[in-house]
Amino acid sequence: MAYKDVYASWQTDPEKFWLSAAEAIDWDEAPVTALTDKGNDLYEWFADAKVNTCYNAVDRHVENGHGARVAIIHDSPITGTVHKLTYRELQERVASLAGALRAKGIEKGDRVIIYMPMVPEAIEAMLACARIGAIHSVVFGGFAANELAVRIDDATPKAIIAASCGLEPNRVVHYKPLVDGAIELAKHKPEFCVILQREQEVAKLGARDVDWHGFQAGVAPAECLPVEGNHPAYILYTSGTTGAPKGVVRHTAGHLVALNWTMKNIYNVDPGDVFWAASDVGWVVGHSYICYAPLIHGNTTIVFEGKPVGTPDAGTFWRVISEHNVKSFFTAPTAFRAVKREDPKGEFVKKYDLSCLKTVYLAGERADPDTIQWALDQLNVPVIDHWWQTETGYAIAANPMGIEHMPVKLGSPSVAMPGYDVQILDEGGHPMKPGALGAIAIKLPLPPGTLPTLWNAEERFRKSYLTHFPGFYETGDAGMIDEDGYLYIMARTDDVINVAGHRLSTGGMEEVLASHPDVAECAVIGVTDQLKGQMPVGFLCLNTGAGRKDSAVVAECVKLVREKIGPVAAFKSAVVVDRLPKTRSGKILRATMVKIADGEPYKAPATIDDPAVLDEIKIALQSIGYAK
Ligand code: COA
Ligand code: AMP
Repeated sequence: MAYKDVYASWQTDPEKFWLSAAEAIDWDEAPVTALTDKGNDLYEWFADAKVNTCYNAVDRHVENGHGARVAIIHDSPITGTVHKLTYRELQERVASLAGALRAKGIEKGDRVIIYMPMVPEAIEAMLACARIGAIHSVVFGGFAANELAVRIDDATPKAIIAASCGLEPNRVVHYKPLVDGAIELAKHKPEFCVILQREQEVAKLGARDVDWHGFQAGVAPAECLPVEGNHPAYILYTSGTTGAPKGVVRHTAGHLVALNWTMKNIYNVDPGDVFWAASDVGWVVGHSYICYAPLIHGNTTIVFEGKPVGTPDAGTFWRVISEHNVKSFFTAPTAFRAVKREDPKGEFVKKYDLSCLKTVYLAGERADPDTIQWALDQLNVPVIDHWWQTETGYAIAANPMGIEHMPVKLGSPSVAMPGYDVQILDEGGHPMKPGALGAIAIKLPLPPGTLPTLWNAEERFRKSYLTHFPGFYETGDAGMIDEDGYLYIMARTDDVINVAGHRLSTGGMEEVLASHPDVAECAVIGVTDQLKGQMPVGFLCLNTGAGRKDSAVVAECVKLVREKIGPVAAFKSAVVVDRLPKTRSGKILRATMVKIADGEPYKAPATIDDPAVLDEIKIALQSIGYAK
């Protein structure tokens, strides 16, 4: 079947389409009803089913005779080690961990925060929660204690599972003090913490802590507990307009069905093939395509602890692909830009036999045509841009390689996937003509596996996504659809920026800067960066009479963002200005500032209160190397 036929079959009868996809899942009680309309624009998929995610990701493969198949390859250029775990070994380890969690009182519905580096135990922890119906919330290791504390207070976990340390190329990240600091800051106190001691740094355990191995000793392994289809599998926090992160909820059954569907239809892999997503378990890409989808589908997944360059060189990606026989490789464009910068002519590519590699997938930020072209030239396989969000959990638009390799249009993540009726709307919510730029919205209901709500925040869910365009989900992205139905993602419509493929809130950074005692007012914008796509830049107006040197306040502000949000914010540039450009009604003209920083032509908007301030902004930006 061609893409258009598959899409049409979904359009004709969406519920039939997804019930048919659901046949690939092993149910304890198979769904009879696909979609439940809960009214008021809320929907649930397969709510009447009973199923266990861990069973589908692990046990069923062992029962079906694939216990000896490699489930996880841990490749850590940082420690110089490679380890493999078979599905049988994974089953034993996960059942044991789940049993120990249960023995310590973790029950179905309890939340467990996971704060771990890229080690297989991070995946085991996620699966162990799924095995007993606990709801995990993985927090990215590059976030600081304060961000972890915010998530602890929102998710109110009974336990935290962490490692003693993470390993960045230039330093050891001391996770244990970060966890302790976060618990100290949080109002909610978890009952216990499970600590995986890594040999690079053994942490001192406190009264609340148990050792990962020690607490499993002598405890009976746990069986898989079937849960309702609409039982939350996990909460994943993501950035929104304000500093408070949004807890995206993922229901169990839809997640299983949709992710499994994508593995063949989008990524074109069969069970047993090696699939590699070079991301981090702390992000949605890591949840969906390092942990769940490859395992549910019976693939081998790679847990990679390293960087595309410098660990040890710009050939790392190609070494891993060649050594482990990777068929489909998924990463963010920024990672390719990092490699391209070190190895523009692809000298490292030539060192490896990459004949195993069939397709490369890019997502997480806009894939610039130069980067795609470079990858095409070096690798000689299709390079597929696809577009999705934490909220959806898998691709909204893609080139579905397992269905049909559609013509690639550089700059476009191709076409809407079945399940998604994507439309471009004007301010008033009216559909726009092909080629016209507008807000990208998706007609409700969203397909299985996408967010049904936000954790403990239904009103915020409505306000963030459902209110602006009634009957639609508002993606927060702006773009267009061409005559052939190809989508183009141009910009965010909110204060979210994308730094090295990491989604960050400029509003969150502004909140931190505003807390500095000498800062009277501030703004943060995302400016174009050759490597990371975007970089945050802060503008600070200081309190009169503060009597401080600008450079001292800037240095303190940079430190403050790193301490409060974390190194991942990559907040390194700020500049002191007298005033911020505002409209007469007091709105800061961030978009105009972005244009100035990027060297684009701009016109002072008619509503600006003082056009001269734009020249001052330009001079300030030039002083820190932007706005050439
Ligand atoms: N734990 C602790 N700190 C972390 C971290 C983690 N898990 N991940 C990143 N950091 C730190 C980095 O060490 C860096 O610190 P520094 O300011 O002291 O150098 C800072 O956070 C910024 O990280 P990043 O923006 O990722 O820069 P980088 O130089 O470490 O790596 C890339 C740049 C492009 C190589 C890397 O971001 C990358 O591979 N990104 C694409 C893959 C990806 O994860 N995509 C997500 C969605 S697909
Ligand atoms: P995240 O929730 O971290 O996955 O970030 C989602 C956001 O990243 C989207 O809303 C887009 O703004 C951006 N994004 C993701 N994939 C793409 C893509 N292929 N092209 C352009 N932007 C993308």
